[in-house]
Formats: sequence, structure tokens, C-alpha cells
Amino acid sequence: MQILDGKKAAQAIKEKLGIDVAQRAAEGKKIPHLAAILVGRNGASETYVAAKVKACEEVGFKSTLIRLEDDISENRLLDKIEELNNDPDIDGILVQLPLPKHISDENVINTIVPDKDVDGFHPVNIGKMVQGQPTFIPATPHGIMLLLEHYKIETKGKHAIVIGRSNIVGRPMSILLSENTNPGNCTVTICHSQTKNLKEVCLLGDIVVAALGRPEFVTADMVKEGAIVIDVGITRIEDASKKSGFKLKGDVDFEKVSPRSSWITPVPGGVGPMTIAALLKNTFRSCETKN
Ligand code: GUN
Repeated sequence: MQILDGKKAAQAIKEKLGIDVAQRAAEGKKIPHLAAILVGRNGASETYVAAKVKACEEVGFKSTLIRLEDDISENRLLDKIEELNNDPDIDGILVQLPLPKHISDENVINTIVPDKDVDGFHPVNIGKMVQGQPTFIPATPHGIMLLLEHYKIETKGKHAIVIGRSNIVGRPMSILLSENTNPGNCTVTICHSQTKNLKEVCLLGDIVVAALGRPEFVTADMVKEGAIVIDVGITRIEDASKKSGFKLKGDVDFEKVSPRSSWITPVPGGVGPMTIAALLKNTFRSCETKN
């Protein structure tokens, strides 16, 4: 078993981006600028957004964090997005999900102008991705593709099982793995809560991507010997022995599954850092194409 070390791979991407940003600065060109909107006080979202802002600093990007109260009206949030859409200094806009219940994710995503949608969630960008056109790819599946690329994992002709059909991870992941690219060229099966015989289906997987958000859902009896296992889950479990009061658990029972796998991502330190690296790459690309 070998570890797909997302921390290491993300560091390599960030170092390269840092050099590219310094180069732009030396040439008097614009520095990438990410605007992140955080609504309310969801602990996990606070952590993720803080990590995104910190990563911007590390590579020399500008970033603006906009914190809004959880009772903000949808209209006021949309106005804020419009303001950022019209600000020529902003290259990328992200609104951290989930949003409070009274705000429609769809309205928010559709309001971000597609050429600043560095999360790749706008229907225009999703459409382009499905057609294999260059565009912003959603950060988590993009990060997983970058991780497979970093470790030169051969995916051609392999059977990938994606568990979870969210717009953020499962669905775009299934599209990317099936594309005629490297990594890619997989036969893909997407599984969800209504899938019958999930265990038997998973056992067919040369690659298993677990993105359903249920801690330790994937057990050793569901994974074929030698499979490549990608764990997208990151659930907070109460743990009084930790300073933070919680520990992080993935969707895969790492201890039992890892001995059967050829490659596996840890949690934390696997997919998470790659998501951030992919977001930074999207933001850089946005700046480069506009300026
Ligand atoms: N919530 C969970 N993952 C993501 C992500 O990639 N982007 C945003 N904006 N919110 C998220």
C-alpha cells in the first residue's frame, strides 16, 4: 500500500504557482485576486474558507474574505456577488456552501459570472466540462485528477466506482474519469443511495472514489485487492481528547481498507489539500486569461 499524499502534491502545485505569480509581478502584470464569501458560522466552513485564504497568501495571491450574517437576505447576497462580478480587480469568486436554508444555492451559483466562477459550479462551466472544453473544473474532482497525475497513476481502461452523486464531487468526478484524457479513460459506475448490491458493485472497482459523506462507510469487504482508493469524506466526530473537541473521519475505514489497496488517500492530508490547490489553479487561470 502506498499513500497518495495530497499535502505533498498540493505543496508542489503551490510552489509552482508561487513562481508563476512572482513572474507576473516582475513583469508588472496583475496578481490573482480571490474573493471568498462566507455566510453564517458553520464551523467546518469557517475552517475551509480560512484554509483557502491562507493558501492564497502562501502563493502570493490577493484575497478578500467577506463575512455575512446568516440572516442576510438572498437579495443582499446576490447584490454582493454582482458587485464582485463588476469589480475588475477580482478574478475569482467563491461562495462557501452549504448556505442557510432560506438562500437558494442555485440562485447564488447562477449569479456568479461564469468567467469568475473558480468553483466551476455555474451551469455554463459544468456544460463546458461535460463537453470536454477548457473551463473551470470543480475544485475537489479537479484536485483528485491532479493527485492521480502527480503520482502518475495509470487509469486508462480501469473501472472506477464513484460513490455519491453530488454536483460538487460525485457527478463531475464521474465525467472527468470517463473523459478521453490522462488521467481519465476509465469505465465509470456511479453509485448512490438507491444502488442495489453496492458491495458487489464496489468490488468491481479498480478505482473507488468515496464521496457520500458517511464516516467509514467503505469497509474492507467492499474493496478489491489492489484497488486505488480515494476518500473524499471529511466528517467531524466529537472527541474530547482532542484540543479542537473533534477528530476528522473519512468515508473509508482506512485502517482495514488500506492493507488491501495499492494506493490510498489519508484523511486528513489527502483530497482536502488538493481541493485548495485546484482552486488556486483555477484562480490563476482566471487572472491569466483576463489580464
Ligand atoms: N463546500 C464544500 N466543498 C465546497 C467547494 O468546493 N466550494 C464551495 N464553494 N463550497 C464547498
